[in-house]
This record gives sequence, C-alpha cells and structure tokens, in this order.
Amino acid sequence: MLNDFEILDRAEILYPDIEELSDLRRFIIDEDWSSFFRLVETVDPLDGLIQTGVDLENLKKTILQNNLHSLFRIIENKLGTCSENTNIKEYFEDLRKATLEKNIHSIFRIIERPSLKKIIVNSDLRTLYKWLCAITNSTLLKGLYSLYTREISYSTDCVSRGQLLSKLWLIQEIRLLNLELGVTYLLGGWYATLGPLLKDYNINLTALRSFDIDPHCSTIAERINKEWEMSNWKFKATTLDIHNLDYKISSYKTLNNIGQGILIEESPNTLINTSCEHIENYHGWFNKVPSGMLLILQSNDYFSNHEHVNCVKNLGDFKEQTPLATYLFEGELDLGLYKRFMLIGYK
Ligand SMILES: C[S@@+](CC[C@H](N)C(=O)[O-])C[C@H]1O[C@@H](n2cnc3c(N)ncnc32)[C@H](O)[C@@H]1O
Repeated sequence: MLNDFEILDRAEILYPDIEELSDLRRFIIDEDWSSFFRLVETVDPLDGLIQTGVDLENLKKTILQNNLHSLFRIIENKLGTCSENTNIKEYFEDLRKATLEKNIHSIFRIIERPSLKKIIVNSDLRTLYKWLCAITNSTLLKGLYSLYTREISYSTDCVSRGQLLSKLWLIQEIRLLNLELGVTYLLGGWYATLGPLLKDYNINLTALRSFDIDPHCSTIAERINKEWEMSNWKFKATTLDIHNLDYKISSYKTLNNIGQGILIEESPNTLINTSCEHIENYHGWFNKVPSGMLLILQSNDYFSNHEHVNCVKNLGDFKEQTPLATYLFEGELDLGLYKRFMLIGYK
C-alpha cells in the first residue's frame, strides 16, 4: 500500500497546479510552516469554512517570524473575549507549546481543522485520500482510495513516478494530435491506470477494453475504472493473452460480475500497448495487427528488469521493431532510471 508521502507525491505529479495539494505535501514532507498557514487560511475541502475564534494572522506572525508583538496581541484578544467557562490556563499552555515548540497537537487544539489534524497528526490515510479526492476530483485517486478501503493489494509500481509521467505524456500527445480513439484496446493493460486519465482528460473514445494475461489484474483494473465499468461496460477488463486476439474482428469471452462468460464481438479502432517491453514474440503480435490500425505504443531501455523481455536500446530500434506506415508522433522521455520511447501512428 502507498504511504502518505507516496500518495501526496503521486497526487502532485497528477495535479502540479493545485496549490493546497503542494502546501500539504510541503508541510508533511518538508515541515514548511508557511505552507501550513496557507492551508489553514483556505476553506478546507472536507470541513468547509470553520471560524476557529483564533487570531490566525497573529499566530502566523508569532510562529513564522518569532514576533512577540503578535503573541501579546493574541493574549490580549483572548483575555478580552474569553468567557468564564474558558479554561484560560490550558489555552495559554497550548499557546506556549504552539509558539515556542511548534507543537502540532497544541496547534490543532488552538486552530480547529479536524480533517487536516487527522491527516497530519494521525497520518490517517482514509482522510488523506478523501481530502485529495475532494480537492482534485481525480478518478485515479478515487480508484486508489477504493483499493485502499477494500484492502485489495496491488503492485504500487503501477503509480510510480515513471509510470505516471509516461501515461501523462501519452495523454498529452493524444490531446495535441486531437485524436479520436473509438473502440480502444489496452494491451498488456495491467491495472489499466490509463483509463482514469483518459476519462479525466476527456479523451474522445467510445469504449476501453483492457487485456492482460495475469488473472489478478482484471479485478483491480475494474475497481480503478469502476465508473466506466458501471456505465454499460464503457470499460471492461479481460484475462487474455494478446497473441490470441484477432484485431480485425475480435471475438472473446469476458466475465460479468457473477462470473459468467459473456461473448463479445467488436472491431477495435485503436490499440494502446504501453507494455511493449514485456511482450514475448513481439513480432508475432505486431504481425497480427491489421494495416491502417491506429497504434499508440510505449517501450523502454530498462534492460535490467528481468520481466522486460523486449526492451529497445533507442527510438530507432523501436521504430525498426514497429514499422508504421504513418508516424504521427515519435519521442523519448528521460525518466532517470530509464528512457521511455513512444510511437503514435497508423500501421
Ligand atoms: C508490468 S505491466 C505494464 C508496464 C507498463 N510500462 C505499463 O504501465 O503499461 C506489463 C503487463 O503486461 C502483461 N503481459 C505480458 N505479456 C502479455 C501477453 N502476451 N498478453 C497479455 N498481457 C501480457 C503482464 O501480465 C503485465 O501485467
């Protein structure tokens, strides 16, 4: 399972422009107090606007700038407004710990922010996921949250930085090319993490089918793509060897939610294979693809991974392995540990 650092990191890769998200990451990971105050000054996505009765501006100046004037202003304000029932001794003890020790427990007793407190003090992943989903409305984060609450284990490598950046790259190029994908097959689809991104970026497609030989993948893929799966099978995952598919008119059996085999016959318009490095007998597969098919392919030069049976050294090798009639895009993405190569075009 992903921990809070990893969840925040991945969320920020997906949504680099959401300030609150970066602020939460900067506070939790880097202990950046300016970020903390920006967060508590904004409306919380789960708790809404809370009037805490605390003089936030002066508390911020006291903690960030060690400003004693601000501290005395808080004290004066408190003495001027507190009722007989207020336990002033406790309040001042919390104020002392908050300002002198930056004690987070005391800070959250002074500033009322229940959800942030659960996320920051209790490392509550449920609340973190809910907070992130509320702020981003991300289908992928909702899917990961759903896996978390159901305690479904999966390889978190599916949302590693490299995997996410590669998928976002693919989405970006589809958008730039303004492609309409029609019936789209994801080959070696794994958990189909691309599905939620295609959905959230409004990529034009009529149906998404994910095929993977590993029988563990389909349940997870359907959980991650639940909304489309429930929308009349706009998404469907099937356990199948991609060598056994006919790509002109595909006829295959998939399982419905009570485990019955349902025969599907359809013609794909687009094949997406971001697992080219994993495919044995790649040429055999490529030869089965009909001419004119729109292909979106990724491979890499990560030879040291023992599951990678079909890596390529560079883009040129990838093109040689995958000769297309028309190339709409070709490029490489340096991910540090390895390079990802992508080809988009018609066979
Ligand atoms: C680790 S994953 C995908 C990595 C990839 N970079 C990505 O995110 O798209 C590779 C997947 O390809 C699947 N796979 C390999 N050979 C296959 C085949 N012949 N038919 C269907 N799935 C296959 C594996 O089961 C695995 O789930």
